[in-house]
Amino acid sequence: NDDQFKKVVSHAKEYGYIFASSEIYDGLSAVYDYAQNGVELKKNIREYWWRSMVYMHQNIVGIDSAILMHPTTWKASGHVDAFNDPLIDNKDSKKRYRADVLIEDYAEKLNQKAQKEIEKAKGRFGDSFDEAQFVATNPRVVRYLEEQRTVLERMARSLEKEDLADVKALIEELGIADPETGSKNWTEVRQFNLMFGTKLGASAESAMDLYLRPETAQGIFVNFLNVQKSGRMKIPFGIAQTGKAFRNEIVARQFIFRMREFEQMEMQFFVRPGEELKWYEYWKETRLKWHLSLGMGEENYRFHDHEKLAHYANAAADIEFNFPFGFKELEGIHSRTDFDLKAHEKFSGKKLQFFDPELNESYVPYVVETSIGLDRMFLAVLSNSLQDETLEDGSVRTVLKLPAILAPVKAAVLPLVKKDGLPEIAQKIIDDLQWDYNVIYDEKDAVGRRYRRQDAAGTPFCITVDHQTIEDNTVTIRYRDTMEQERISIAAISEKMKETISF
Ligand code: GAP
Repeated sequence: NDDQFKKVVSHAKEYGYIFASSEIYDGLSAVYDYAQNGVELKKNIREYWWRSMVYMHQNIVGIDSAILMHPTTWKASGHVDAFNDPLIDNKDSKKRYRADVLIEDYAEKLNQKAQKEIEKAKGRFGDSFDEAQFVATNPRVVRYLEEQRTVLERMARSLEKEDLADVKALIEELGIADPETGSKNWTEVRQFNLMFGTKLGASAESAMDLYLRPETAQGIFVNFLNVQKSGRMKIPFGIAQTGKAFRNEIVARQFIFRMREFEQMEMQFFVRPGEELKWYEYWKETRLKWHLSLGMGEENYRFHDHEKLAHYANAAADIEFNFPFGFKELEGIHSRTDFDLKAHEKFSGKKLQFFDPELNESYVPYVVETSIGLDRMFLAVLSNSLQDETLEDGSVRTVLKLPAILAPVKAAVLPLVKKDGLPEIAQKIIDDLQWDYNVIYDEKDAVGRRYRRQDAAGTPFCITVDHQTIEDNTVTIRYRDTMEQERISIAAISEKMKETISF
């Protein structure tokens, strides 16, 4: 809900995860900086992805292609002609909106009305309530859901036909108003390309118009043959990469869910034509397992299979996550056919084919893609982990229950007091642990306060050095999630942490 979302945003700032970009100049809309803890969490998510995709699959290798690419790339990929959002302006408020989002919001309200009726009836009928029966027969629910479907279908049809006049007509017929001012005085709908342009070269005559890449995938496609040959790869094989992508998005104010500069983690899996749907199913399942392995609750994920497919795809699904503002796309799995490689063949005049020794023939491979936004994954992890817990004594503890493997700081080492040689022992423990883990030292405030600070920052272990340590070389290790404490020897700390943190 809204409150939880606000809490996540302010917690992210207070605990050094995310700052608005160039904040002293009032920020830059939909652009963010990762702070000292944020950069670690982001790096750990990237590494968790990279290990499971690249190191755990013998037939997947990684690359790191440039953000700037030859401009013909984006002609071939379809981005110059078709990577557009339909925009509409309100003439009174001068505010700009995505026409499709206005319509989707309208349709979502109809859905919410239907859900409300269902909840009400559930309360009335109790255990004997037959939801499917109610949804199929209650006139109001039937009407809401029917209208929702009709609206969305008409929008999809008009957008597909590029009939922007009809998109506007739909907005007017539905009586959709500017969400901020209530005005219904709209301009025409027009297409707006999402790519950021820039220039290469110093002099005006020789300058070349370039784009900042809107996805990392094309850097993989254009390198397909280079990697295949130099790595002696045999189909099926994959190429993975992580890196920045840029889109001039219109919808702002969604924190790091929709950004103008963001990072993707993408993998293109090259397969024999005709085998793509088998691999599509494989990757859908494999990617969902990856998410579930982090233990953030099975109920928080669902698939959304696309009925309407992009021009390049013959099957597509999203993995949606239950964000504080509802279920939204987190990752996409797309069966992209041979669309991209064929297009690059056509525009470059170079063959992008694989000789399959088993079939004794050459072909342009088909591609199954997995594509996840790193920042969006970051938001999923952060919002799912932030919890307010009421303790036995009635006090409230704010704790960031990050999966330990992703936590920025793995352990805080705390001398109980700032004297009697305890700080020196704590420092010695850090000297040993820091080879394997990101660990920190903290001696400020009473130890209870320090525990709470680490809980809120997401640190899974606190290691406390006290006077008994001097006598027997033991420390207490405290667990963030349970607040339980255990006495263990200094020599056992690293192993103990490894039990929870290893990949
Ligand atoms: N190569 C395919 C591709 O780029 P996409 O659905 O446009 O597909 C893939 O993007 C993923 O990238 C999304 O599922 C989302 O997680 C992330 N993403 C897309 N646009 C984003 C944005 N403006 N801000 C943050 N993440 C974004």
